[in-house]
Amino acid sequence: PRTAAVIPAAGRGTRLGPGTPKALRPLGGIPMLVHAVRAMARARTVGLVVVVAPPDGVAETRRLLDAHPLPDSESAELLVVPGGDNRQRSVRRGVEALPPDVEIVLVHDAARPLVPVDTVEDVIAAVRDGAPAVVPALPLSDTVKEVEPSAPERVVGTPDRARLRAVQTPQGFDRDVLAAAHRRVTDEGDGATDDAGMVERLGHDVRLVPGHEEAFKVTRPLDLVLAEAVLARRRA
Ligand code: CTP
Ligand code: MG
Repeated sequence: PRTAAVIPAAGRGTRLGPGTPKALRPLGGIPMLVHAVRAMARARTVGLVVVVAPPDGVAETRRLLDAHPLPDSESAELLVVPGGDNRQRSVRRGVEALPPDVEIVLVHDAARPLVPVDTVEDVIAAVRDGAPAVVPALPLSDTVKEVEPSAPERVVGTPDRARLRAVQTPQGFDRDVLAAAHRRVTDEGDGATDDAGMVERLGHDVRLVPGHEEAFKVTRPLDLVLAEAVLARRRA
């Protein structure tokens, strides 16, 4: 079955601070988005990568990808489509752009540029095995408190940390299941930050595979420092 990756890259990166849109920021001299595209294309069965760009940045994103061609060993077709005003809408636009022959879809944040290929392959393998939705996940280091929404300084509970997992991307899906979730889940406010959550709400099983420390999301300035250090270690 043909496998494609959708990369939402239409966010501003507000938490990273002012400057270039997050996906276009360089890491080791190469834009974060290019790292993310390569991380998907490196997986042997991924033949198509759909990049979801800021609505006013499609041409710029296309130029940037053309300026950083994939090596022959990582070849994949690249499509660039305009995104929406939250992550959920951006992913939906990417899913809508998939050609009919795609059966397995990975959804991968541009903001997770350093995910190792083995993690990507593990997700694909679990979907091929029959899981409708597969998510890489790690145990938490920090204990988590649940707070009162209207008074967030008030603690209402402490979930047992051993039962919690932090989820990463790429998340892998049966194409029809993901498309149905994006058609049927109504998006209010900021929308879903996680595609598997939408699939869960439709009653499908979501399976976890081990995540990877290097699949962390670049969200705040310190994450850029860590990403540069990981790249430097890989190149050493
Ligand atoms: N994303 C997107 N379209 C949006 C918002 C987010 O495609 N309207 C993408 C981002 O580009 C990113 C991924 O969703 O690759 C994860 O989102 P996040 O880390 O929150 O990135 P931003 O929304 O850009 O950052 P911030 O929330 O700090 O503004
Ligand atoms: Mg965001």
